[in-house]
Amino acid sequence: MLNTGSPARKNAAEFAWQRDDVFGRIASRYDVLCDVFSLGLHRVWKRRVAKRLVGEEWNTLLDGATGTGDIILRVLGRSSAEGRTIVASDVSPRMLAIAERRLQAFQSAVSLRQLDAENMPSVPSQSVDAYSISLGLKICNRHLAMQEALRVLRPGGRLVILEASNIRWGLLHRLYLAYMALCMPALGWLATGGDASAYKYLLQGIRDFPTAEELTRELQAHGFADVSFERLSLGIVAIHTARKPWRAGI
Ligand SMILES: C[S@@+](CC[C@H](N)C(=O)[O-])C[C@H]1O[C@@H](n2cnc3c(N)ncnc32)[C@H](O)[C@@H]1O
Repeated sequence: MLNTGSPARKNAAEFAWQRDDVFGRIASRYDVLCDVFSLGLHRVWKRRVAKRLVGEEWNTLLDGATGTGDIILRVLGRSSAEGRTIVASDVSPRMLAIAERRLQAFQSAVSLRQLDAENMPSVPSQSVDAYSISLGLKICNRHLAMQEALRVLRPGGRLVILEASNIRWGLLHRLYLAYMALCMPALGWLATGGDASAYKYLLQGIRDFPTAEELTRELQAHGFADVSFERLSLGIVAIHTARKPWRAGI
């Protein structure tokens, strides 16, 4: 098992929701801002995550750091909700309020819960078949979040992570980071009417998040099996999948 270290050290974005309700402040504009910053690419990435989840066998899905519920919307756009229990969770009540509105058509299957992905004592161990977290791991203490994911998953359960990653060509990656450093805070400032703090956290998170290979090793060190990843958009993001072993050590 990994030493999970101090929360600040393992939170790539150095973000603490207890100190700053920044995602709450931008909640109503979050979806538009995602389109602006990713030039619409987040839609492609999330469709791919949904496809991965739909391809798995599960009855109970927990989506951590769900934001406005984008992943669940896409999963339910591709598969039936019948007989399924889906939990959309986030720390921000304002994000959850938007997710609730967007997921209204599926209210018999989806429940909204305010949960901290780092510590979810109200979610019983081994109670979910699949756990997903998209663009949220870099703004949490990822080691605590991975530990919690492993705890709540049933043996054999699936973990699907969408997160910032690394372009394999170093120069291109550095150019991408320089472009983001220039554009993200400025666009964020303009788009939010002067509150660019969310985008400073996200930028910091993108810079300091481990490479796909490093995250693979971290997931394995936490005890996940069948760990693999797929780079998307040259490696700007990657989808990581893993399984909770059927038995300890497998
Ligand atoms: C960048 S948004 C991603 C939202 C959504 N998953 C998506 O892909 O669009 C990050 C979300 O993580 C939430 N968040 C931040 N820290 C969290 C934590 N410790 N536990 C759960 N959610 C958290 C924020 O409130 C925000 O809604």
